[in-house]
Amino acid sequence: MSGPISSSAPAAPPKRRLFVTTALPYANGSFHIGHIMEYIQADIWVRFQRMQGHQVHFVCADDAHGAPIMLKAESEGITPKQLVNRIAAERPKYLEGFHIDFDHWHSTDSPENTELSQDIYRRLRDDAKLTYSKSVEQFYDPVKNMFLADRYIKGECPKCGAKDQFGDACEVCGAVYAPTDLINPYSTLSGAKPVMKSSDHFFFKLSDPKCVAFLRDWALDGKLQPQVANKAREWLEGEGPDGKKSALGDWDISRDAPYFGIEIPDAPGKYFYVWLDAPVGYLASLKSYFDSGKARAKGETRSFAEFMAAEDTEQIHFIGKDIIYFHTLFWPAMLKFAGTPYKVPNRVYVHGFITVSGEKMSKSRGTGLDPLRYLDAAKMNPEWLRYYIAAKLNANVEDVDFNPDDFVARVNSDLVGKYINIASRCAGFVTKKFAGKLLAAESALLRETQSAASAIGALYEAREFGKALREIMQLADGINQFVDQAKPWDMAKDPAQQEALHRICSEAINLFRLLTIYLKPTIPHLAGEVASFLNVPSLSWADAGTLLPAGHTIQSYKHLMQRVDPKQLDTLFDMPTTPASAATAAPTNVPKDEAAKKTAQSASPADTSGQNAHISIDDFTKIDLRIARIIDAKHVEGADKLVQLTLDIGEVVDGQPKPRNVFAGIKSAYDPAKLIGKMTVMVANLAPRKMKFGLSEGMVLAASDTTGTSPGLYLLEPDEGAQPGMRVK
Ligand code: MSP
Ligand code: ZN
Repeated sequence: MSGPISSSAPAAPPKRRLFVTTALPYANGSFHIGHIMEYIQADIWVRFQRMQGHQVHFVCADDAHGAPIMLKAESEGITPKQLVNRIAAERPKYLEGFHIDFDHWHSTDSPENTELSQDIYRRLRDDAKLTYSKSVEQFYDPVKNMFLADRYIKGECPKCGAKDQFGDACEVCGAVYAPTDLINPYSTLSGAKPVMKSSDHFFFKLSDPKCVAFLRDWALDGKLQPQVANKAREWLEGEGPDGKKSALGDWDISRDAPYFGIEIPDAPGKYFYVWLDAPVGYLASLKSYFDSGKARAKGETRSFAEFMAAEDTEQIHFIGKDIIYFHTLFWPAMLKFAGTPYKVPNRVYVHGFITVSGEKMSKSRGTGLDPLRYLDAAKMNPEWLRYYIAAKLNANVEDVDFNPDDFVARVNSDLVGKYINIASRCAGFVTKKFAGKLLAAESALLRETQSAASAIGALYEAREFGKALREIMQLADGINQFVDQAKPWDMAKDPAQQEALHRICSEAINLFRLLTIYLKPTIPHLAGEVASFLNVPSLSWADAGTLLPAGHTIQSYKHLMQRVDPKQLDTLFDMPTTPASAATAAPTNVPKDEAAKKTAQSASPADTSGQNAHISIDDFTKIDLRIARIIDAKHVEGADKLVQLTLDIGEVVDGQPKPRNVFAGIKSAYDPAKLIGKMTVMVANLAPRKMKFGLSEGMVLAASDTTGTSPGLYLLEPDEGAQPGMRVK
């Protein structure tokens, strides 16, 4: 790309027709940071495609079916549909909050999904002849009257005798076994002893030679990432049961009632296993999007069936590394053998997992980085996270770590210190001195910056976002050097240099515009604000081929982005200091100010009005209060309020004492050295909370007051004689 002001963009490539999805999240819980990371990755890619002028339909849906959702709803005394609706209702907050721009969000528990899943199944059964049924023996819970998936069976390890081990492997000695090998097995749902019972199950014949041959072609032709293709190869090229080369077993696609799912045609009481109807949910969401007229409103002229059947439609799935098997074997095979209009996926783009300070998230513990807390309590800018995640992403299946210090450094130095800095140093002169009007700009630096468009574009296309952003930041470095050398702030003071000042600032504004185009997929909201500041319509990729013409007027500059305040990360990860209930690392998600409000109410001596509702003794006994001995106490580097406590509450694991680690917000009142040896009271059954500094496994109790006659913090201490581990009630 060369020349000023000229439109030197290459001839537009043919328009792509893209159908893009992200994995359908289970509808039994709120989004966690792993979901948000996946959506950010896909959203950046989709926005890049749209900036190229390609047509994209970007959809997702809730994965509503399956036993865990059914059981969770039951435990809450609501129907699965009610549970799913409640979860669905909170989705938009997250999606809008992080500027994730799906065209449509649907549910697998929908008429479209029922129709499509049953249609695909009938085609596999009647046309492809790839299904059959056979009797299967399985553990059955005689009290709940349901068959038990392995995860609902526990018992003693057949090898080491450890109690309460799951049906597949022993967490103590590592032995792997079948649920039927467990000694004294019991159902985790009812506690009952399971019985063996047989039932007819339906199978998809993945081992059929035509399936295996198809999958080898499909999965090993280079369309998958190398790490993903290697997995597929392992699965496809092992030794099969018949001695032929294929390890693929047939796939059990049915579950018996009671099950929250879609009924299997002509098989009363049988339901599709959730993983059969879940990927069909991609198509169901697309269909609902088309049938509702939303696709038409966005310029789509074809019907769902026409779009699906079209040669040029590209079907692309973004997923995480844990669900490769379903997306590279079952799903393409289902689509292939269901036949036209169904088409096999063109691409499956797999990403790694996000960790927080190097630690894996655990769903059961519910720790990690809470996306809503990020937005609401910590009041952090969503585009910081988009930028940070993008900067760490590449096209491989690699895990990505959210590291708080690294986050602050990258956002502040790159996004604010390099990119925003260009506009904030030059824009003011243009509005104040030259009525916002620009001069024509022409320079080698401009041409160089313009000609980076294709290389940066290729990196976005390849999902090498980290590399793309590094290229952009290198350009920003060069531009900042240019401004540093020209020193517009000095020129401004010299009447003889006004025209030169005007030229320098016009050039810098043009350079800033080009960087904004390149950053737009990653920080779309900010790019929108820059477009208004520049007084231009929405920026597309091809706009990098042009410059702002002489005489173009920009709006007056308002600061575009704040720096991250490291305190915001404390709010994000640390417990709000709640004086009344104790200044501790509480695993609570209550935003700081709300918590403070609550505390003020309950802690104030004047508050005896009984406004707080009564709780039952059962509510109280849910709290497991224990006597704890503080066996160690340390300062926490980088934390204003926290002390790290090691607490003995009499717990022993594998014959070894197992003290608890707790971060308590008591630094203002206690010198750690003086705490060692003291006895106190701790809440022992709080869900552990991942903090910036490590895992906090409970909280200690303290009285406090900020206003009264003895402001301060007072750790609770039991009467003499109490021993670690004693229950307080
Ligand atoms: N319901 C299935 C997917 C069905 S797709 C037809 C499922 N749901 S999930 O809620 O468990 O996960 C949804 C997506 O989030 C998956 O792609 C999964 O890999 C991704 N992630 C879950 N934890 C993650 C991280 N810690 N990091 C990044 N992505 C993660 O699986
Ligand atoms: Zn064992």
